[in-house]
Amino acid sequence: MSLRILITGATGQIGWQLQRTMAPLGEVTACTRTRMDLADPELAAGFVRDLAPDIVLNAAAYTQVDKAESEPDLAHTVNAVAPGRIAQELARTGGLLVHYSTDYVFDGRKPVAYEEEDATGPLNVYGQTKLDGEQNIAASGCAYIILRTSFVYDIRGRNFLRTVLRLARERDELTMVADQHGSPTWARAIAEATAQIAARCAQRRDPFGWGYGGTFHLTAAGQTTWAGFAQQIIEDYESLAEWPADTGEWGAPLLAKRVTPISSDQFPAAARRPRNSVLSNRKLESTFGLRLPDWRLQLSLALQDAVR
Ligand SMILES: NC(=O)c1ccc[n+]([C@@H]2O[C@H](COP(=O)([O-])OP(=O)(O)OC[C@H]3O[C@@H](n4cnc5c(N)ncnc54)[C@H](OP(=O)(O)O)[C@@H]3O)[C@@H](O)[C@H]2O)c1
Repeated sequence: MSLRILITGATGQIGWQLQRTMAPLGEVTACTRTRMDLADPELAAGFVRDLAPDIVLNAAAYTQVDKAESEPDLAHTVNAVAPGRIAQELARTGGLLVHYSTDYVFDGRKPVAYEEEDATGPLNVYGQTKLDGEQNIAASGCAYIILRTSFVYDIRGRNFLRTVLRLARERDELTMVADQHGSPTWARAIAEATAQIAARCAQRRDPFGWGYGGTFHLTAAGQTTWAGFAQQIIEDYESLAEWPADTGEWGAPLLAKRVTPISSDQFPAAARRPRNSVLSNRKLESTFGLRLPDWRLQLSLALQDAVR
């Protein structure tokens, strides 16, 4: 099995990790925005037509949740129109689209974990554009796997983990929202699970399709809030006492040791966010036999990666 694989969003958290986890499955072409700009859906579709990949992993997205409120057209083009056009190209060639979506397609009012078939109801522009993207892909007729994930972080890139550590180095007090619940998920864990899913699909591939398809939730096990996540980041970082001298930002001491919980109302943001975005991963487990570790274990492994 050697597949022609296209990864978009190669500079992003998931896209970066996918380049490593997908490498054993075939020939990987990893595209940054410079090479394949999803703000130009026809260009993106043309790129797919020319390369004729077996699998496209679309890790590119307009991910700035607050900014999307003032740039709805651009967010819609990147998150909905371009994935739909890529999907249409793959529908013609029989290729598989693996696409990432978000917990923010839900309104957060469900008191327990969301299942894939639960009613959607995005509270913000970003969530709406991601939902539109899901629907455009489903309508294209291509073979697809949509993976909805949440609270994504890594030790590189723009994310909550690095923001918390930066703030904790600069200030002696941190306040974080404690009424939004979710499952922090390490980009590497997502990329590793994606590679296993893609391999399983490739094994089942026949002239009629890829054996599997549909929407799946893919998040760490367990749940917390942004405040709980931030507190755990600080505690884990502090427990890694033996930072080598030359680790730059990672070795620097923290001033803030405790996180003060606040409510969403005390932290005004342009975009509203769901109070509960915990996703049930039952379907992922029953279909692929995959279960991501608890978020605390993932966080500890990610931070250990920064040390060594
Ligand atoms: N981050 C989260 O908490 C989270 C939660 C749930 C779901 N997701 C979903 O997971 C996927 C990956 O997220 P991530 O956290 O890895 O994102 P990320 O780190 O913010 O990276 C986004 C990637 O998309 C690229 N991109 C943005 N606009 C583009 C454009 N017009 N054309 C081409 N590429 C463009 C970025 O390129 P530049 O480097 O040039 O900006 C970057 O490579 C997305 O579908 C996202 O919606 C993320």
